[in-house]
This record gives sequence, structure tokens and C-alpha cells, in this order.
Amino acid sequence: MAYRAGLDYYDLYLIHWPNPKQNKYVEAWQALIDLKKSGLIRSIGVCNFLPEHIERLEQETAVKPSLNQIELHPYFNQKEQREWHLKNEIQTQSWSPLSRANALFQEETLLNLAAEYKKSPSQIILRWHYQLGSIAIPKSANRERQLENISIFDFSSEADMIAIVILERFDRVLKEIINTVLVRAFGEQIEHTKFDLVYCVNGFIGMYSKLFLYYRIPIDLEALAHSLVEKTEILAKHVQVPFLTFDLDQFFKDKGTVEVTPEQLVALIEQKKTGLDDSIEKESLSLLQEQLSNHPNYSKAIIKGLCENIRLHPECKDLFYLLRIYFEF
Ligand SMILES: NC(=O)c1ccc[n+]([C@@H]2O[C@H](COP(=O)([O-])OP(=O)(O)OC[C@H]3O[C@@H](n4cnc5c(N)ncnc54)[C@H](OP(=O)(O)O)[C@@H]3O)[C@@H](O)[C@H]2O)c1
Repeated sequence: MAYRAGLDYYDLYLIHWPNPKQNKYVEAWQALIDLKKSGLIRSIGVCNFLPEHIERLEQETAVKPSLNQIELHPYFNQKEQREWHLKNEIQTQSWSPLSRANALFQEETLLNLAAEYKKSPSQIILRWHYQLGSIAIPKSANRERQLENISIFDFSSEADMIAIVILERFDRVLKEIINTVLVRAFGEQIEHTKFDLVYCVNGFIGMYSKLFLYYRIPIDLEALAHSLVEKTEILAKHVQVPFLTFDLDQFFKDKGTVEVTPEQLVALIEQKKTGLDDSIEKESLSLLQEQLSNHPNYSKAIIKGLCENIRLHPECKDLFYLLRIYFEF
């Protein structure tokens, strides 16, 4: 194997994923162990293995992987898996460490840290990986960005890195907790507004947390809790015009695991068009719909212009956001 690549040996060789249905990963692992023994590979490891898979490797072959490459970035910080690796002396390696340079690069937390340290968002994220003890493998096809991505060893701050860890908690777990608490407290009263309320309460929590994380002001947790309860109650009882609807909430939830599909966008555009009089906005929506269904290949500049035409229309703000994700601008 190493001969075909023109090498005497590989430094590291990994199994891409356990593919449990095929159930051949122990066999594949044994092959890697043999290759290591013969000197063709220095270190052997795995990717995307859960603890149960690694435990099985160890039970059946008595050899543990030296490394497990897993998806890891600020939106998905894999706390439990990392801790398990640490306990079991397995090195964590982060794939898609920059979360593919998507919405993460617009996170205020990150932009503030980048400004504070005079570093790029990418450098802040990669430093965060380094301080977590994980080996990040960012991909860049650009020489300047490659250099940027390895220039992360001249700054450090444990405290500020916590601000990045909380990105995930706010986005995933916390919203579910807030939702449960709100539904228990206000029941049917918030049936149509709950998605918006979760978003607002989550926003409050984020804003106040930043005060003590960034500016290090002392925090009176009890006062904060009372204040949040009061604000939540006012919103729950009086909000009449929610911005975030069930549909939009689903789109956001799915983002990260599922892409926004052209079919979803076409359906949403159709829905928006029915509420609009003939106007530049409506015409722009029709052209976008055309692009999504029949792919006439409008240039990126035209697509962006069409999206800009609908951006400020009150009915289309959510759609604009989704189109931006889809067309990646
Ligand atoms: N084991 C697995 O299952 C698995 C799964 C997925 C990925 N991976 C591996 O993980 C590695 C990286 O993952 P990935 O490519 O998915 O995601 P990533 O490294 O998180 O992101 C790559 C994106 O970030 C951009 N980028 C890189 N540096 C940047 C910078 N300094 N500023 C702005 N943008 C920057 C790149 O654009 P430019 O190229 O234009 O700079 C590219 O679009 C790859 O080697 C991949 O093979 C492994």
C-alpha cells in the first residue's frame, strides 16, 4: 500500500467510519494492526467512531486507536466524546473544524474576539481547538488562508475561549429547555408565539451572558433570573405578532444537518407570492423561483440583486435569510 504511494510508510492511517451495518470494522482494524506491526504505518486510528465502537475494538483486538477524527467545531463541540477520549488516552482530531466557514463566521461572539485579539475568525476558532486539546485539520485551497490557519500560536486566553464553547449550548440544548419551560408555564396561551418567544428569551440570555463573559462584570444570578422571568412573562402574555414561525424554526433546526433544498424554497416563494401585489418584489420572487426550478443559470450578481430586492419586504425577511444560506452569499 505505502509502496504504491511511493512512501516507505504512512505516519497515520484511519478507518473512515465504522459502518456498523456491515459490521466489518473490527476486521478492518485488525488489518491496520497487522500493517502497523509490519512497519508500513506508524500510527493507526479511526474516524467517527462512538465509544461503543472503540470499546469493541479494544475488547476484540486489545489495541486502541491512537486517534479518533470527529466532527468538531464551535457549533458542535462534542464535549462528552472529547472527555471520553481524554479518559481513554485517545487523541481527538477535529474534522470541518471551521464548520465549513458558514454562518459561524458571522457570530458576534467570534467577531468580537477576533477584533479584540486582532486575529481572523478562523484563527480564533483554530486557537479554540488547540486549547481544547484537539488537532484541527482545516481545509483551504488558498495559500494566504493556509498560512493564516497555522499562525495561531502567539496568543491565548482560557477565559475567552469559554465564550466560544457556549455558542453551541445556546443554539441547541438551551432552546429546547426554554421551550419546555415556556410551554409548561403558559400552555396554549403561547401556541402561536412560542417559537418567537424561545428565540427572544434565548437572545436575552445570550446578551446578559456576554456582559459577564466579555466585560467580566460581577453577576448577581438571582437578580438576573428575576428580571428574565418578568420579561418572559410580559412577552408571553402580550406578544401578538411573532416573527419566527413554526416553518422558519424548522428550517433553522435542520440547518447544520440538512441543507435548505430548492424544493423547500420554491414552495415558500410560491406561498409568499400569493400575498403580494404585482411589484418588483413579486417579479424578483418569480425569477428566483425560475432559477431554483429550471436553473437558467443567472449569474451570482443577478441572484444577489434579486434577493436584495426582497430583503426589506416585511413578508420576505425569513425567505431572504434562507436564500442567502442556499446561494451562499
Ligand atoms: N473523517 C470524516 O468523516 C470527514 C468528514 C468531513 C471532512 N473531513 C476532513 O476535514 C477537513 C476539513 O473539513 P471541511 O473542508 O469540511 O471544513 P473546514 O475546514 O471547516 O472548512 C473549509 C472551508 O473553510 C474555508 N476556509 C479555510 N480557511 C479559511 C480562512 N482562514 N478564512 C476563511 N475561510 C477559510 C475554505 O475555503 P478556501 O478553500 O477557499 O480557503 C473552505 O470553504 C478536510 O480535510 C476533510 O477531508 C473529514
